[in-house]
Amino acid sequence: MSANQHLDLLVTGAARFTSDLPWPEGCLHAHPAVSPHAHARFTAVDAAAALATPGVVAVLTAADVPGENQIGSVQPDEPLLAEGEVHCVGEPYALVIADSPDSAWRGAHAVTADFQPLPAILDPRDAFAAGSLISPPRTWASGDVDGAWAACATVVSGTAEIGSQEHVAMETQCALAVPTDSGGVAVHSGTQSPSVVQRAIARVTALPMHAVEVDVVRLGGGFGGKEDQATLWACLAALAALRFGRPVRTCPDRREDFRITGKRHPYQADFTLGLDADGRFVAYEAMLFQDAGASTDLSLAILERSLFHATNAYAVPNVRVTAASCRTNLPSNTAFRGFGGPQAIFVFECAIRAAARELGVPPEDLQRRNLLAEGDVFHHGMRAEHVRARASWDGLEGVRPVAEARAAAAAWNAGNPRVRRGVAVQPVCFGIAFTATLLNQAEALVHVYLDGTVVVTTGAVEMGQGVQGKIRRVVARTFGIPEAAVHLASANTLRVANVSATAASTGSDLNGAAAREAALSVLAELRPVAAARLGCAPDDVEFADGVARVRPGAAAGGTGPVAWGDVVADAYLRRVRLSALAHYATPGLHFDRDTNTGHPFHYHVYGTALVEASVDVLLGTAHVDRVTAMHDAGALLDELTDRGQVEGGIVQGLGWVTSEEILHSPDGRLLTDTLSTFKIPDIQSSPELDVHFLGEENPLGLMGSKAVGEPPLIYGLGGFFAIQDAMAGWRPEAAGEFRAPLTPERVFGLLHGLGAAPEP
Ligand code: MTE
Ligand code: HPA
Ligand code: MOS
Repeated sequence: MSANQHLDLLVTGAARFTSDLPWPEGCLHAHPAVSPHAHARFTAVDAAAALATPGVVAVLTAADVPGENQIGSVQPDEPLLAEGEVHCVGEPYALVIADSPDSAWRGAHAVTADFQPLPAILDPRDAFAAGSLISPPRTWASGDVDGAWAACATVVSGTAEIGSQEHVAMETQCALAVPTDSGGVAVHSGTQSPSVVQRAIARVTALPMHAVEVDVVRLGGGFGGKEDQATLWACLAALAALRFGRPVRTCPDRREDFRITGKRHPYQADFTLGLDADGRFVAYEAMLFQDAGASTDLSLAILERSLFHATNAYAVPNVRVTAASCRTNLPSNTAFRGFGGPQAIFVFECAIRAAARELGVPPEDLQRRNLLAEGDVFHHGMRAEHVRARASWDGLEGVRPVAEARAAAAAWNAGNPRVRRGVAVQPVCFGIAFTATLLNQAEALVHVYLDGTVVVTTGAVEMGQGVQGKIRRVVARTFGIPEAAVHLASANTLRVANVSATAASTGSDLNGAAAREAALSVLAELRPVAAARLGCAPDDVEFADGVARVRPGAAAGGTGPVAWGDVVADAYLRRVRLSALAHYATPGLHFDRDTNTGHPFHYHVYGTALVEASVDVLLGTAHVDRVTAMHDAGALLDELTDRGQVEGGIVQGLGWVTSEEILHSPDGRLLTDTLSTFKIPDIQSSPELDVHFLGEENPLGLMGSKAVGEPPLIYGLGGFFAIQDAMAGWRPEAAGEFRAPLTPERVFGLLHGLGAAPEP
């Protein structure tokens, strides 16, 4: 094992995900029967054919749910199994239990009901016009937008549209529920939110929460897709396990996962941006239409983050943004890396491009001129502090000057009529904290064993982002012992309770801080023990390099160092506490939902990327060639992991805007339900990545670090604008519409005047 045990496990394939857990003796398998209609009424489920399928044990419906038939965590609009009405293709309305996964799948596909189709809405603007909303639209405003237009030298308006995105985590959704002898249930769930799953299981089974144990070993990726939507699979497994007194496993295959689960929210938008004669942003107004799908899920929190990030990394004195969460008849859209921020940022960046075209200037001139500066106030009232917007831009220029890249592209284009190059700069400003203030808390449990090794439990779910490695490092540094002496246990609701989801990029900030508190609490107990051995004052003990020793410069120097293990053994003999549970709540957060102002974030993450792309105008193929990023991650807690997060985020963002397209049939069926029709980036389509870190200590972060998980995805938006830039140089009208993704089909159609790409 190298220093980074977590990465070793992943790259060697030894890491065990929930879906890799061995099936217990007598394990049954469950699969939901799902609606074939986007919207329909039904009165009776016909399970006869399913029950006649070999291996099928039973078919359950809503009537078999002993508790409340409801799993909506924010609003009660999501039944576990549909009752009387279905609201999207893929909504579960029955559960087939069988002796093998294959039989469960076959049985589920044999279930029918007397569906009477109803009209369906598949477009958020249509939903808005019909008044089909998850909740009333929200408007956030600052300054005086109406009064500001008159002072503008230039005002541009337009529309923008950005598509959905399937998470495609390596591991699909999965749960394994085992009934306990005391009438409860222990569930291994592939979730980012153990406590949300625990509460939902208690609700649908009518069990007290103490009878529901949720354990999360490690996820084969989550990306937000398992923040709220692992709940369904865990509840289905628990329901069946309790009913039949046997272990039950749910694990949809890739195609079922594509069809049933929600994805990133697509957005449509109208925008207007006003600038003064010097190119300074004066006023911005936007209307955002979010496609929430059929139920609330996390849509309102996602909508709120869109409002927070509406002006990205720019200072705009007058802002009015309205956002509507529109209820459509599609599977409920959900959290996805960036959580609504990237969609709103895309709209603002489109407005900048519209203004740059109008003024005939490179967009980067406007971007740079308007970057946030220290002390600027966001439209939500928070003052920007420790701003790194210009520092990251200038840092990037130091690595790869933007003007040089633009000049090189122009020079290339002058001599190459067929392959055209384009560039785009993509700044990032992302607020770190759950926007729901109450979620910004965490607990950690630390045990020190008699051999000096340590086990840490938190609510943090490892999903590839390296949170366990970071917490391990924090605890090892706090005790001054080797990382190999610290083990991170699974997230488990019996050991650490009431945990927030591992989400909002706060996993290591929150859980790492709680773990550090717990370790410090044990250390406070060990200090007098070590001092007695060392013959010094407790405050003069230093724990480092696997020993306790007298700190340099201490008044009285006693004996030589004592091994960590000996201090621990001594403590036990003296009946001193070797365990601690600590709680951490991010200080200083508040937000007033009546005035939409406050201090919602602990700090912001900044960065700037230069994206360079080329387009073969004859073939209509586009390629992002190179991304150079200057990213602000504070004092890096784990450089390899942080680099992986930035690189992975960039590629995931590029995939969203260039090749990944979610398409539905006119009757609401997902057409792109395989990896051959929904194209994720591969090593060939990925650009050359050149990632640099600003590396300045973050005074507000865990040991000087900054959260890193979500923000880098936003750099990927630059891929859209770089390709558009390349196309505009050849045929300006080809770059007219702000509609992502720019798939190969669309690039070809736009270049050759074919209009929109034909739908399959
Ligand atoms: N990286 C990997 N490899 N796998 C993931 O599922 N999820 C992303 C990001 N990076 C994810 C990832 C998302 S959506 C979030 S919110 C953060 O990691 C969550 O982890 P953190 O809070 O510990 O950074
Ligand atoms: N980010 C991610 N997940 C969340 C948030 C957030 O801000 N709020 C609630 N769940
Ligand atoms: Mo991440 S979208 O907050 O799970």
